[in-house]
Amino acid sequence: MASFQEMLWAWPASTLEKYAWRAFHWSRDLSPLPDALAARFPRGFAWGAATASYQIEGSTAADGRRPSIWDTFSHTLGRTRNGETGDTACDHYRRWSEDVDLMADLGLRAYRFSIAWPRVQPDADGRVNERGLDFYDHLVDALLARGIEPFVTLYHWDLPQALEELGGWRDPEIVGRFAEYASTVARRLGDRVRHWLTLNEPQVFSVLGYAFGHHAPGLRDWRAALLVAHHAHLAHGAAAQALRREVPGARVGLALNLVRYEPASQQPADLAAADRVDGTSNRWFLDPVFGRGYPADVTDLFGDLLDGLDLDAVRSLSAPDLLGINYYTRELVRAADDASDPARAAIVRPAVPRTTMGWEVYPEGLRLTLERVHRQYAPASIVISENGAAYPDLAGADGSVSDPERTAYLASHIAAVADARDGGVPVDGYFVWSLLDNYEWAEGYGQRFGLVRVDYETQRRTVKESGSWYRELLAAAPR
Ligand code: FCB
Repeated sequence: MASFQEMLWAWPASTLEKYAWRAFHWSRDLSPLPDALAARFPRGFAWGAATASYQIEGSTAADGRRPSIWDTFSHTLGRTRNGETGDTACDHYRRWSEDVDLMADLGLRAYRFSIAWPRVQPDADGRVNERGLDFYDHLVDALLARGIEPFVTLYHWDLPQALEELGGWRDPEIVGRFAEYASTVARRLGDRVRHWLTLNEPQVFSVLGYAFGHHAPGLRDWRAALLVAHHAHLAHGAAAQALRREVPGARVGLALNLVRYEPASQQPADLAAADRVDGTSNRWFLDPVFGRGYPADVTDLFGDLLDGLDLDAVRSLSAPDLLGINYYTRELVRAADDASDPARAAIVRPAVPRTTMGWEVYPEGLRLTLERVHRQYAPASIVISENGAAYPDLAGADGSVSDPERTAYLASHIAAVADARDGGVPVDGYFVWSLLDNYEWAEGYGQRFGLVRVDYETQRRTVKESGSWYRELLAAAPR
């Protein structure tokens, strides 16, 4: 007879891993029972999931849509993994009704999605394409019919290519154009949509798009990135005013990506470097959005790159009604002499648990981020507008996915939100990134973030184990 050990080794490795993981997991109590976790949140909490237009819709030439900078970028050789594009993505533009059924089946109370600007104003003349708006109009109706509260993001990175050709975010005219676009959407949806986010992650689209060249439009020019960020701040302010004018009672804000930057050591040089990166990445966006203008220490760091910009113009911004925080990870920072980085810092990458994006799993960072934002900026209301993780997700023959790592990630981060709430931080909603596996920008389809698996060959959707876990949590959450 085989020994116990031999029997163990005869199991498929995946099964072994699964049980080892579960034992570890339970021993650490990383995943409290969904009911116990749900009970830590109040009635009316916005439990949801998030997506973005270019990442899921496909149908990039349907009903009058014209290209965005992401169509151009992804169709340029060498820009994205395997040359992958959002041409089809999750085919959501055609399958939206089935996807709303899926949301209802998961028990979502809220859904954050973005509007594709190139569907609404496809050309440089700003003409409104009503057919593009129709799509979102129907979507909003279907959500409300299922009791799902829409949270609308106006800009999740798909700038109309026609505007890019006029200078895009580098041209100050974009401010007025964005406000006009915001009014147009608000006039169509504002009778039903109360929650509005103007921009998604201005830090990412300015720095990754214009300084690092990793995202559309692919420039490598810090001066351009700072110009873009400046115009993005002003555009947020102008759009927020337009939304408040068009939609009485609207709650208006934006979604900022906040990374928890910590020093790699307690050496004074590393402490200072972590503070500089926090300055160029987090405070450069938080301070102006809360009407404080740009932080002086960071203005000094950027130096000549800011020449000629009317920095005081951002002082006219007023604090958001709701702040969206997209949180994924922590980064450890050390001082470095790299002159190409205004913060003169480098990221250190110790071997710790990471997702397939290479991002450290660090739920504590979410609590610390929330406490910090509450202490330093005191927003009236916060929603976690994105939080989630990419894992390899090997699917069974029937499409089923056992993804305990994602469940643990979500459970531990939701617990961190509950801890922050217990400490008095006004967090009123939580959105998993993402509802569906989708087009992860320059990473193409290689990174899977969904609660629901998408088989890109057949477009079949299958709820993952983490999705079932989230459904249980939501079923137990007070109504
Ligand atoms: C955020 C983006 C979102 C998605 C996640 C993984 O930076 O807002 O579209 O790509 O990261």
